[in-house]
Amino acid sequence: MSLAAAASAPEPVMRATDLVAGYLPGVNILNGCNLDVYPGELIGIIGPNGAGKSTLLKALFGLVNVRSGSVTLNGRDITGQKANKLVQAGVGFVPQTNNVFPSLTIEENLQMGLFLRPKMLKERLESIFDLFPVLADRRAQRAGSLSGGERQSVAMARALMMDPSVLLLDEPSAGLSPVRQDETFIRTRRINKTGVSIIMVEQNARRCLQICDRGYVLDQGRNAYTGTGRELADDPKVIELYLGTLAKDVEADAKGPDAPGAI
Ligand SMILES: Nc1ncnc2c1ncn2[C@@H]1O[C@H](COP(=O)(O)OP(=O)(O)OP(=O)(O)O)[C@@H](O)[C@H]1O
Ligand SMILES: [Mg+2]
Repeated sequence: MSLAAAASAPEPVMRATDLVAGYLPGVNILNGCNLDVYPGELIGIIGPNGAGKSTLLKALFGLVNVRSGSVTLNGRDITGQKANKLVQAGVGFVPQTNNVFPSLTIEENLQMGLFLRPKMLKERLESIFDLFPVLADRRAQRAGSLSGGERQSVAMARALMMDPSVLLLDEPSAGLSPVRQDETFIRTRRINKTGVSIIMVEQNARRCLQICDRGYVLDQGRNAYTGTGRELADDPKVIELYLGTLAKDVEADAKGPDAPGAI
């Protein structure tokens, strides 16, 4: 890249460089991961179970010990910073599981998302209820009594209360019916269109690649493939190694349960 091009290239909102991280001494789960998200991008991360996708998000959010490599936020080194500092700096995180306070109401859950800036509550609630109207109607209901999809909405809404510049989503469509999954993907794209950069981990790989700007295939804690969502979805190697099973399932579904070869 020329000096002039480098000077005009946008800076990534978040960048992970050669990340090595793990839980147990001597066992690395991430083995040199690289990832960039540029302003306004929706990034998808796919890969087999146990590839380290959740670990990568946790490492970006200061929840896993980073052994080497770095994470930057708008060019500033944030490697190893604690989650509460990162929330203050503009990072939102929705974990894969246990992502709401079940004994609190929807409104109280959202309030918890803004504990660092309580004075903004009214203004932020209005803007969040605009994105999630169903939560406004049921704001007094306890989160523990909600369906999986509704809980997922509460978790996402809570992470958005601080108006983050980058949002990390771990499997937002997991465990939902196909209709609810679709709603989740559409909502994620809508949130992204409001200007929030998003890094989304997904099991629903094909759908994820359809809506993301760029994607990363993670395997054994390393980047296996990267490209636009379209490039990855059309790449024969990615199809064979990571989308193949799903493609067969879709084919079988299309044939119907009684068709020869259908599962
Ligand atoms: N708290 C933990 N302590 C020790 N090992 C862990 C811990 N959490 C995850 N691991 C291990 O790290 C590896 C990667 O796990 P991770 O949850 O990051 O995978 P993933 O790609 O998100 O998988 P999935 O698609 O099933 O959600 C796995 O081998 C897992 O057993
Ligand atoms: Mg995971």
